[in-house]
Amino acid sequence: MDKLVIDGGQKLSGSIKISGAKNAALPLLASGLMCSRTLQLSNVPELADTVSMIALLEHLGVQIARTENKLQITGEVKILDAPYEQVRKMRASILVLGPLLARYGSVKVSLPGGCAIGTRPVDLHIWAMQQLGAIVELADGYIKARCKNGLVGNKIVFPVVSVGATENTMMAASLAKGRTQIINAAREPEIIDLGNCLNAMGAEITGHGTDNIIIDGVDTLSGASHSVIADRIEAGTFAIGAAVTQGDITLRDINPVYLNALFAVLEQTGATIQIGDDWARISSNARAKSVDIATQPYPGFPTDLQAQYMCLMATADGSSKITETIFENRFMHVPELIRMSADIQIDGRSCIVHGKSDLKPAPVMATDLRASVCLVLAALATAGTTTISRIYHLDRGYANLEEKLNNCGARIQRQAE
Ligand code: UD1
Repeated sequence: MDKLVIDGGQKLSGSIKISGAKNAALPLLASGLMCSRTLQLSNVPELADTVSMIALLEHLGVQIARTENKLQITGEVKILDAPYEQVRKMRASILVLGPLLARYGSVKVSLPGGCAIGTRPVDLHIWAMQQLGAIVELADGYIKARCKNGLVGNKIVFPVVSVGATENTMMAASLAKGRTQIINAAREPEIIDLGNCLNAMGAEITGHGTDNIIIDGVDTLSGASHSVIADRIEAGTFAIGAAVTQGDITLRDINPVYLNALFAVLEQTGATIQIGDDWARISSNARAKSVDIATQPYPGFPTDLQAQYMCLMATADGSSKITETIFENRFMHVPELIRMSADIQIDGRSCIVHGKSDLKPAPVMATDLRASVCLVLAALATAGTTTISRIYHLDRGYANLEEKLNNCGARIQRQAE
């Protein structure tokens, strides 16, 4: 297992090309199971999670060809079974449920099991498939779903906003008979990207990006070429990196609109933000001011940037309250930040963060993807040498992290533990 040794205290300065979005690429890869011809995806990020999804698709029987920046998915599924060994590695494997059920009428997908950031049930995914006419049985740790004569469109009103359940439903409903209406749908940019790709394959989806999505089912989906949108969470992480090190970073190849919620908060903390069509520049020359946030579904403040933002508040001037409304156990970074001398108290779903002018280096341990990168930012902002162990989580979601940061003046080394 590798560790990162970070010699911190430098301002980050430079320009970073943002990679394709992990959370867009995963459902797009799953949608390849539905097309009768070839789905060609470009800008797929090279990450442990995309490798896991590709391995699952190959296990199911489709062929994947990868050239430098393009990936092609072709062929028929031969096995309608997503086994525990593959699903437990990555919860997003549940996204094969809708495509396989809709196209082949029967599927067995392992329940994902526990997860570091809360229980994260899949009840809404299952319920939505039932609303489309599937017969679902839970047995031996597996979801077994089937439909006799295909799925049938329906009106689906989600009781809570779920990104993954909205995606599974959009994919399944694309091949259902008749019209499906999803009410209280997730509005994340990754949903827009999936809807656009499915439409390029011949689906008839409107309203993606709003909370009311209409899907008119079609008989088959053919091939398409699609480019994955930029990763707004990766971009937001580097934006916070610029603020916390009082540096100056330009993010390239992004849609800045997708970062509105973060940029509005960073401006309140005192950072300067300049925005172009496909870039944003974040700079800061003073210690941040404390500003409260609460995570919300898009277009609110993303839960996937909560840990990174807490690192900024741990070094800010004043006290702030950070409330996590999406996941019930997403403060694993707090004890590690406290090891670096941060002053943070957890109070239920909120944290009270008393900013300190300096954190202190300490050996820390990464616990999940975003918690890990929060520790990288904390180490970059702290004079001295910080060691972060168990960094395999980072490789799930950040492509070439050290290279990108080192090109901006960071001093990060990866070493075998
Ligand atoms: C996706 C993202 C993840 C992000 C999250 C919220 C991917 C691959 N992952 O995860 O990075 O943190 O959105 O923006 O895109 N819930 C249920 N039952 C369900 C499904 C969800 O109760 O069947 C609950 C969850 O426990 C959570 C809330 O709904 O409290 C939102 O979760 P959801 O939007 O589904 O997250 P994911 O799609 O898993």
